Amino acid sequence: MASTLPHLLLLLSLLALSLSTRTPTLIQKTCSTTTYYDFCVSSLQSDPESPKADVRGLSTIAIHLAISNATNTSSYTTTLARSAADPSLRAVLRECAAKYSNAGEALQWSLDALSTESYDYAFVHVSAAAEYPNVCRVLFRQYPRLPYPVEMARREEVLEHLCTIALEIISLLG
Ligand SMILES: *[C@@H]1O[C@H](CO)[C@@H](O)[C@H](O)[C@H]1NC(C)=O
Ligand SMILES: *[C@@H]1O[C@H](CO)[C@@H](O)[C@H](O)[C@H]1NC(C)=O
Repeated sequence: MASTLPHLLLLLSLLALSLSTRTPTLIQKTCSTTTYYDFCVSSLQSDPESPKADVRGLSTIAIHLAISNATNTSSYTTTLARSAADPSLRAVLRECAAKYSNAGEALQWSLDALSTESYDYAFVHVSAAAEYPNVCRVLFRQYPRLPYPVEMARREEVLEHLCTIALEIISLLG
């Protein structure tokens, strides 16, 4: 009987292991092909529709998040522009707001392309959307006395990440 306990423990730990290594979900599998795994999983899981979505559905969820981020940042930047006392800062922020609005439009076009399974066009539109926040940063660089606001940098990064995962998921389609 002395050997029963170790055997039982081994059996229990194997059982625990098999429970903890459940088959990955489609979200996890899809996100594992992207550059930002954790960001991808938490972003997609924030949408209640994601557990039922196929890969194309996951790409549209990422794009919807990107649209809402771009729109939100465009309004945020417009508000910043209104409260800016410096005329150059006000002008740059207004341009940035327009770029984020353009990004939202390009993302909207990518959804249209996805709905007709035009994956190449969807890819092109998301790539364009990913460039706009970058244009905002470059505008700030042209005015060295105007520091690029930390909050703008943070928002640029989130939108860049969302566009990157959207592009990587679109690449799995077709
Ligand atoms: C922007 O995207 C992030 C990451 O997916 C998400 O958590 C956040 O809710 C989004 N914000 C808006 C305003 O859509
Ligand atoms: C942007 O998002 C923030 C937090 O996610 C929210 O408080 C704010 O109301 C949103 N702004 C707009 C214009 O949607």
